[in-house]
Amino acid sequence: MEKNNEVKQFVMDRYNEVAESSCGCCGDNTNYTMFSDSYAAKKGYVPDADLSLGCGIPTDYVNIKQGEHVLDLGSGAGNDCFVARSIVGENGKVTGLDFSDKMLEKARLNNEKMGYKNVSFVKGDIESIPLPDNSVDVVISNCVLNLVPDKTKAFSEIRRVMKPGGRLSVSDIVIRGDLPQELRDAVALYAGCISGALKIDEYIQAFKEAGFENPETKKEKHLPISDRLILKHSTEKALADFKEGLVEVLSITLFARK
Ligand SMILES: C[S@@+](CC[C@H](N)C(=O)[O-])C[C@H]1O[C@@H](n2cnc3c(N)ncnc32)[C@H](O)[C@@H]1O
Repeated sequence: MEKNNEVKQFVMDRYNEVAESSCGCCGDNTNYTMFSDSYAAKKGYVPDADLSLGCGIPTDYVNIKQGEHVLDLGSGAGNDCFVARSIVGENGKVTGLDFSDKMLEKARLNNEKMGYKNVSFVKGDIESIPLPDNSVDVVISNCVLNLVPDKTKAFSEIRRVMKPGGRLSVSDIVIRGDLPQELRDAVALYAGCISGALKIDEYIQAFKEAGFENPETKKEKHLPISDRLILKHSTEKALADFKEGLVEVLSITLFARK
C-alpha cells in the first residue's frame, strides 16, 4: 500500500512537471513523445491540449455517438476530451479525470478558450473514481493505466462507473515476452510511461477478471528499443530475444464492453 502511494506520488510529481514545462521531451532524457500518433487531422483537435503524451487514439475504436457521456481517465491537458466533444456535440457530455493539479489547470484553461459548457475536468484518482455507479456511456484512456499501481482496483472502478452495455477503449503500453527487470526500469525511465506495464496477456486477462466482456485488441504498434539501450542494461541474450521478436514493447488499443 505504502509502495503504491509512493508510485502514485512519483507519477503525479512527474506529470505536474511535464504540464509546467510544456515539453514532451524534458531535460532528463525522458522521451514522453515516442509513442504518440498524430492528431493534427482529427476533428475537434486542440493543439494546446496535445502534449504528445498518448500512445494511440482511443476515440477511433469506440464508436462514440452524439449525446453520449464520455469519461477520459488521465486526461492530461484535455487532448482526447476535445476530440470526444466534437463527436458527442452540444447535447453530450465529456468528463476528464486527472490527479495532477497542473494538468487540470492546463486542461481547464484550454476548455475556457474553447468555451465548451459540457466539458469538465475533475480531480481524482483512477483507483477511486469520484463518479456514481452506471453513469457513463463510454470510457477512454490514453497511455495512463500502465501508470496506475493497483490495476485490479482501477479496472473494477472503471466498470462500476460504466452503464450496463457501456464501451471502453484504452490505449496503453504493454510488453510481450519477458523483459528483464533492469531493462524494464531503463525503458521506463527512457519512455516515461511504462513504469507498471503488464504483459499483453495479463493486461487482457485483468480486464476479463474485472468483468469486462470480450476485451479485444484493435490496434498494436511496435515500439523500437535501440540495441544500445538493451546492451547497456541487459545481456546479449536479451538483445537476441528482441531481434527474434520474443520480447517486444508495444502500444495497443483495447476495446471492451461492460
Ligand atoms: C502519459 S500522460 C497522458 C495524458 C493524456 N491522456 C494524453 O494523452 O495527453 C498520463 C496522465 O495520467 C495522469 N494519471 C496517472 N495516474 C493517474 C491516476 N492514478 N489517477 C488520475 N490520473 C492519473 C497523469 O497525471 C497524466 O496527466
